Amino acid sequence: MTLDLELPTTAVPRAPATGGAIRPRRLRRTSALRALVREHRLHPTMLVAPLFVRHGKGVREPVASLPGVDRISPDVAAGEAVRLAELGIGGILLFGLPDTKDALGTEASSDWGAVQDALRRVRALDLPLVSIADTCLCEYTDHGHCGPLAPDGSVDNDAALGRLAEIAVSQARAGADIVAPSAMMDGQVAAIRAALDAARLGETAIMAYAAKHASAFYGPFREAAGSAPAFGDRRGYQMDPANGREAMREMALDAAEGADLLLVKPALPGLDLIAAARARFEMPIAAYQVSGEYAMLAAAAERGWLDRRGAMAEAVTAMVRAGAGIVITYAAVDLATWLREDR
Ligand code: PBG
Repeated sequence: MTLDLELPTTAVPRAPATGGAIRPRRLRRTSALRALVREHRLHPTMLVAPLFVRHGKGVREPVASLPGVDRISPDVAAGEAVRLAELGIGGILLFGLPDTKDALGTEASSDWGAVQDALRRVRALDLPLVSIADTCLCEYTDHGHCGPLAPDGSVDNDAALGRLAEIAVSQARAGADIVAPSAMMDGQVAAIRAALDAARLGETAIMAYAAKHASAFYGPFREAAGSAPAFGDRRGYQMDPANGREAMREMALDAAEGADLLLVKPALPGLDLIAAARARFEMPIAAYQVSGEYAMLAAAAERGWLDRRGAMAEAVTAMVRAGAGIVITYAAVDLATWLREDR
């Protein structure tokens, strides 16, 4: 078959309907045809909603830079989990805000931490929802870095491993189905796997933030979680956004250390990595549409510059097209609600 590539010279030609011509538009004519040939669709079960949990009762504090996202107390988080489960959303990802911060991020591994409290409450509800806990220290340390500091002010990788393992064990005990280490410390997946197994928590899965770049798109999250580093930045442990081969190496290491799922973050700037991960690994691949990715769409929509619904759905669908089977997004409730309306 040949394509007729002859271009009109003067007037718009009225080409005869040639039976053999390849015309992709035939399958775009009606919405029923478009639905029939659609290659990727979103489903609520593939969405994970991040929740920011702090101590208290009945607390719901909006986060200015993340419209629609609140800091909530464990009781409110439990109510939220019910609402999310009713929408058919796949899971929640819990981040904690401690009452007190110190050099070691002690509260992160406390059985009485806000995250552990919320996990226990959600577990008691027995919802068809996966509980994921972010396993990191930056929200809990007074210096805001993702591990304890060495005397020279750098993050002490191997001291961080012990802390991350303690945090993961306390989260798993409280009811996390999955722990998600996001500190980008070398060996963190192996350390956590060993600690979970030793604590007879062998069923708890690990979602490794395997390919996590030192991204400018985490800004609003750091406001929400109060986790901006007090000095310096995270480029000594998170990856240089210029590096893709290194991202694949990180993912291979995490897979070898026993990760059950691999996460790419940020998502839209990392679509190439999502696609490469999908081609190379058999395990589930998750994408994290991070705070800045969400905030820029939400802000443009608030100004009337973008259609919120269209832009959010398109961005998240692109992550799925690239190969993500799971998407962590602050738009989870919106997307699940829109998917219902579309039915
Ligand atoms: C903790 C962590 C961060 C995010 C997820 N886990 C912040 C950071 O690394 O600075 C960012 C998520 C987002 O921006 O939505 N280390």
